[in-house]
Order: sequence, then structure tokens, then C-alpha cells
Amino acid sequence: MKVVFLAPSYPPEMQQYTRGLAEVGAAVYGVGDQPVGSLAPSLKQHLVDYLQVPKLLDEDDVVNRVHAWMRGRAVDRVLANWEVMVMTAARLRERFGVPGMSVDAVRGFRDKQVMKERVAAAGLRVPRSVRVRTATDAREGAAELGYPLVLKPISGAGSADTYEVRSDRELEDVLGRMHHIEEASLEEFIEGDEFTYDTVCIGGKPAFANVAQYLPKPLIARTNEWISPVIVTVRDLRQPAVADGLALGESVLGALGMGDGFTHMEWFRKPGGEVVFGEIGCRPGGAHLVDQMNYTCDIDLFREWARAVCWNTFEAPTRRKYNVAIIFKRAKGQGRISRITGLAEFMRAHGEHVVEMKLLPVGTQRRNWKHTLVSDGFIMLRHPDWATACELANLVATQVTLYAE
Ligand SMILES: Nc1ncnc2c1ncn2[C@@H]1O[C@H](COP(=O)(O)OP(=O)(O)OP(=O)(O)O)[C@@H](O)[C@H]1O
Ligand SMILES: [Mg+2]
Repeated sequence: MKVVFLAPSYPPEMQQYTRGLAEVGAAVYGVGDQPVGSLAPSLKQHLVDYLQVPKLLDEDDVVNRVHAWMRGRAVDRVLANWEVMVMTAARLRERFGVPGMSVDAVRGFRDKQVMKERVAAAGLRVPRSVRVRTATDAREGAAELGYPLVLKPISGAGSADTYEVRSDRELEDVLGRMHHIEEASLEEFIEGDEFTYDTVCIGGKPAFANVAQYLPKPLIARTNEWISPVIVTVRDLRQPAVADGLALGESVLGALGMGDGFTHMEWFRKPGGEVVFGEIGCRPGGAHLVDQMNYTCDIDLFREWARAVCWNTFEAPTRRKYNVAIIFKRAKGQGRISRITGLAEFMRAHGEHVVEMKLLPVGTQRRNWKHTLVSDGFIMLRHPDWATACELANLVATQVTLYAE
């Protein structure tokens, strides 16, 4: 089983997928822009070969170089788990004629307008929306759709350049800040709770499924610095509150022609209970969501994903044991972390439920909270009872404080 895996070293969790591939018996051919000499030994041991390319995001160039590099060697899979590489992987699959999702199928997971059109064509509920390229398009779209609206880049990430728009005046204001965006999606604003639906699929059917709730919605969390964003995996997927979301998610996978691998979808539940599609990627969720899912079931999805994509089997138990919460912290003030309050008390009282803690140590420079969801670090904890898990997460969000000066 020869596997070309794009970007095996960055983002850091890609090293875990590389390990997983090697552990299920794949010969992994890595492609990245880092020099081979600077790859961590823990990663290098899982690669049989590595190609350094000058620009990983130059699709044409990477396709040509990888094709030349692997010529004459029978390639069985071309894989990528990083959003910006999934299209390059699809183009390489078509070039090599190896099985896996086509360029057209992947387009449905990358272009937010194509995505919504395909999901809607399957009779599923999506926000009403229009693709806009100019301010005039946006004004016309707003007149057609009516407020409240959301304006966001067509292939955005991390809620960057995403705005809630509630009036003509707000629209003009937001348009003034969107000059650098070539193409955007203007859509109906969906009120309500926001969740993820995550899977590892074999032939478009989930061998593993997960739902997590955002507290609060990402757009709110990512525009207010004082908030400690929380994401909690839902242990009990049979409860009515999430059952409709699971059903929606499975139908979306069918509508978009999902193949093998990870998916990460976002969906809304309106106050009246109606569920609405948000967006989906054919890759895992970031910001430690895969770790959270692993702690939910005590399994190793890095390896099980590899087994699913290489051998079309999934062997890990899927019994859900815990609700797993991650709480991201943002320091108060600028500069270097100077002290952390409330942590010792929390750990004394509830430390047994904490599974991971990676807060920036005192003395380190703060991160830019706009650039990374992980911010100045996180605490991950778990509990079998939903209400208790949320209560503990809320304690960390409100009682643990990092200061910077
Ligand atoms: N139609 C909508 N109605 C209400 N809220 C929305 C809508 N579209 C986007 N949002 C909010 O904005 C956030 C970011 O939008 P979206 O998920 O489409 O973009 P993204 O930048 O790809 O996200 P990510 O942070 O997952 O990378 C959503 O998580 C949600 O909170
Ligand atoms: Mg999103």
C-alpha cells in the first residue's frame, strides 16, 4: 500500500496521521515544504520517502513535481487532511488514476456556494444565499434575501472576514472592510445553537460519527476577546436534540458524494428545533477536535482513519463514554504571560477530570487570539454526565484567568 500523504508535518497533528498510516502498514511518501533535515525524528521514522516542494500551496507545481517523483511507482492512495491541500490531493488522484474522491466531489466540500447548492438540491435545509463579487451584487442580494444576514468569504476559515449584517447601514460598513475579498457568500442569518457533525467515512457512510456543541457560537466567540470559547463532544447521540443533526449530516454526505476519510460539518438548531446545514469539509476538524473525539471513546482516530482509507475497515470501539470539553483561554492584557489565577483551586477540586492542559507558561509571549483558536492555551476535561461536563467547562472559562503584561 503506497500512500502519498500531503503536508505530513504541518499542522502538527498531521504527524499523528502519518504515524497512523505507518501503523496500519502503509508505505508513506510525504510531500511538504519543510526541508527533510528539519523534520522531527518521530515523524521521519514513519516516512519511506519525502519530497520537499518550494511552495505547498502552488497546486499546479505540486501536482507536476509529485507526478514526476512517483512516476513508475504504483501509487495506491493520495491523501491530505489539511483543508488547503484536499484539492491538490484530488488532482493528483486524477492524474495517477488512483481511487478516491474526484476533483468535482472535492469542489463540493471547498466552495461554500457549490456546497450549499448541492445540499439544497438534495432537499435539505440550507441558509438561503447568493454568491457576490461586487458591492452592487451584495446590495441586490440583501434586498432579495432580507436582513439579518451573514457576509463571508466563499472559501474562508476560522471565521475570518465573517460578519453579521442587520441593516443597510451595517452592510455598507462591512463592505468597506471586505475590499480584499474577491468572492463572498451572502446568506440568511440562522439564529440558534451551533454544533459539529464529524465522521470517519468508508464509501460515504460513517464508520464513526460525533457531534460537538460550540459554546457560544464561533462567530461570537471569535469576535469577543474576553470569551473563553468552549467545545463539548456530546456523549449521548441518541438524544432528540442532536438526532436530527445526525440525520441531516448523513444526508449531506450522500448529497456531496463523500468517499473515504474524515468529514467536519457545522450545523445549527433553531429555537423551534429545525436543523439547518452550515458548512462541511472533507477533512478532520482542527483545534484538537480529533483528540476530543479520541477521549470521548478512548480510541485512536489517527490510526483508525488510516485503516479506513487504506483498508476500508474500522476496528476501534465506538461506544461513547464521556462528554469531552475543551476550553480555550485568552490572557487579559498584552505582552508576556505574567500569572495564572484560579488554576490551582480548580485542579485541587476537579483535577481528576482533566485529561490535557496546555496553557502558555508564565514568561511566554501571548499569541494573537484572532489568528489561532487555540489562543493562549487550553484545558481539556471529561465527564460521563453532560450537565457536569458543561459546569466544569464553565468553571474553567470563568474562574481560571491568564494575565499578560
Ligand atoms: N448563515 C449563518 N447564520 C448564522 N451564523 C453563521 C452563518 N454563517 C456563518 N455563521 C457564523 O460564522 C461562523 C463562521 O462561518 P463558517 O463556518 O461558514 O466559516 P469558516 O470561516 O469556514 O469557519 P471555521 O471557523 O469553521 O473555519 C460560523 O461558525 C457561525 O457561527
Ligand atoms: Mg466554520
